[in-house]
Amino acid sequence: MTLDRISNRILIAEDDRTNRMFLKKGVSGLPYEFVFAETGDDALEKILSDDFDLLVLDVNMPGLSGFEVIQKYKELKPDFKIPFMFLTGQSESDSISKGFALGAVDYITKPFTMVEIRLRIKTHHDLYKSQIELNSYAKDMESLAKQRADQLVCADRLATLGTMSAGIMHEINNPTTFISGNVQIMKSKFFPVIEKIIKASPESETTKVKYILEEMPKMFDGINTGVARIKKITDGLKTFSRSSKKIEQLKPHCLKKCITNSITFTKSSIPSNVQIEYTEPAQNTFFSKIDSQQIEQVMINLIINSSHAIEEKNSPTIKLSLKSTDNEVIFKIKDNGPGIPNDVLENIWEPFFTTKVQGKGTGLGLAICQEIINAHSGSIKYTGDSSGAEFSIHLPKELAYA
Ligand SMILES: Nc1ncnc2c1ncn2[C@@H]1O[C@H](COP(=O)(O)OP(=O)(O)O)[C@@H](O)[C@H]1O
Ligand SMILES: [Mg+2]
Repeated sequence: MTLDRISNRILIAEDDRTNRMFLKKGVSGLPYEFVFAETGDDALEKILSDDFDLLVLDVNMPGLSGFEVIQKYKELKPDFKIPFMFLTGQSESDSISKGFALGAVDYITKPFTMVEIRLRIKTHHDLYKSQIELNSYAKDMESLAKQRADQLVCADRLATLGTMSAGIMHEINNPTTFISGNVQIMKSKFFPVIEKIIKASPESETTKVKYILEEMPKMFDGINTGVARIKKITDGLKTFSRSSKKIEQLKPHCLKKCITNSITFTKSSIPSNVQIEYTEPAQNTFFSKIDSQQIEQVMINLIINSSHAIEEKNSPTIKLSLKSTDNEVIFKIKDNGPGIPNDVLENIWEPFFTTKVQGKGTGLGLAICQEIINAHSGSIKYTGDSSGAEFSIHLPKELAYA
């Protein structure tokens, strides 16, 4: 029996029929289910096959005595924790001591009144219940502490990553610049010369040479694509590590302008059949203290994510909207893609989490968005469903400009 749930069931073992009837009548109306046993053996069998919150045992019974029931049960279940009390005519101090030595919570000697029995049963049941509640509370606390410790480790890891990324980016950017510079020179300056020399040589007609002439430009392109990809990741990480700007550096801007700019910037990189629906609100109440470039970056990241999600749709559509309340400016972006399933949703704000094929996503987009919005004392939430993904951004309104 583990200390983890209440059954509201109490066992009373009493061999004497009259006493049993008296007890049955006496405990009626108490909010527990009472199970009566007529002998010690009967009591042991019942305890072994059912859950009880309290055992009330007569000491003298035919076969096993009340004490022996507990002794046997302890042998069979050494970890047993159910409270038990003895109810008996034996009032010798030896017997009382033995009962308590066995671990009884109470020992009631005859004569007793029914009021006394009822109160003692209730008290011990309440105590047991509190013990179970405390136990479960302790377990909850233990798992909460573990969860918090895990979160701290994760937060620490992310903070370290943020601090390290600026340095790492510098280290990666230097050789990258140099690779891409050299490739450019080789492609534009060296290759035409090499091509000329090779074509003029007597071996120019051999397949091997032809192969080199064909493959070399492709290899340059391959190197360029790789370098561009490294640059995309390093740029993303740079923004990630620098995105927590101080609020004093932010200036009042109209969010309407950020949206139109973001649409213009993304137009060339998203497929032409993607419809971007946005009706600019007429009134001018959309001012927030922001770093407009960073907020545009958030909008661009979200638009690009949506365009990826709706690539295979018949009428791929992205709807943007801007709303203003007394103290907030709310920007929403909704697409008609598949939305984000729950198991993916748990991870989308994690840096480097992506469900996209290698080369298409860095997994930094949403982590950057969150960093930027947090630095603006705003909030960004996923508010979509299976009809499409939706992200909502709330930014504090700059009242002076409203
Ligand atoms: N509009 C969207 N619709 C469906 N899934 C999305 C959308 N936006 C983001 N996601 C999911 O969130 C993941 C993380 O996005 P993000 O951090 O921008 O990284 P990336 O775009 O490089 O994968 C994506 O890989 C995708 O699974
Ligand atoms: Mg993205």
